[in-house]
Amino acid sequence: MTAPRIIAFAGSTREASLNRKLIRIASGIATEIGADVTLLDLRDYDMPIYNGDLEAREGLPAAALTLKALFAEHQGLLIASPENNACVSALLKNTIDWMSRPIPASQGGPAGPQPFKGKFAALLAASPSFHGGMRGLVALRAMMQTLGVTTLAEQHTVGKAHEAFDADGVFKDAGQLESVAGVVRRLVEVL
Ligand SMILES: Cc1cc2nc3c(=O)[nH]c(=O)nc-3n(C[C@H](O)[C@H](O)[C@H](O)COP(=O)(O)O)c2cc1C
Repeated sequence: MTAPRIIAFAGSTREASLNRKLIRIASGIATEIGADVTLLDLRDYDMPIYNGDLEAREGLPAAALTLKALFAEHQGLLIASPENNACVSALLKNTIDWMSRPIPASQGGPAGPQPFKGKFAALLAASPSFHGGMRGLVALRAMMQTLGVTTLAEQHTVGKAHEAFDADGVFKDAGQLESVAGVVRRLVEVL
């Protein structure tokens, strides 16, 4: 039996990002239980803000094409999403928006890898607020549904996340780890 393939990433490129800490932990758990995990850093996939005129002129950014192809090779998505003004981060939205666009003929389209449809996703969030970014996940869930992703009911948000990790990025509270592990286990189960 081949290991389920999961692509994991945080919607933040901040050096001290709480969501990057969270996704590293979740990816480690997924690997431990037998998944084949590709952990992305969105710093490596820089894109301009989506602009329809730019798209008409130049097509998709190279990073969007690379991500589309990479996503097509995986069945599962594991996302740790910051919450900005009760929504997902601009970075995450922009990345998904570019990836959702069809590849133009000038770049080898219209047939191209389908990055989202038919995939399963598990959502996580970390934020300094008490609710841990739960509202951002409502928005992310709606986006995923629109793109044809089945999003697990199970999710975990880390509230007061600025106090949740030690200097090595390990959860101080074992209960947090267990909750993240439950979500990750469920994702691996359905793949
Ligand atoms: C523009 C902006 C809006 C924010 N809005 C929210 C919010 O609505 N809810 C929340 O819990 N945190 C909010 N925050 C705080 C972020 O959750 C916090 O900066 C978090 O650490 C960002 O994720 P990261 O650590 O992975 O970079 C906001 C931060 C910024 C910069």
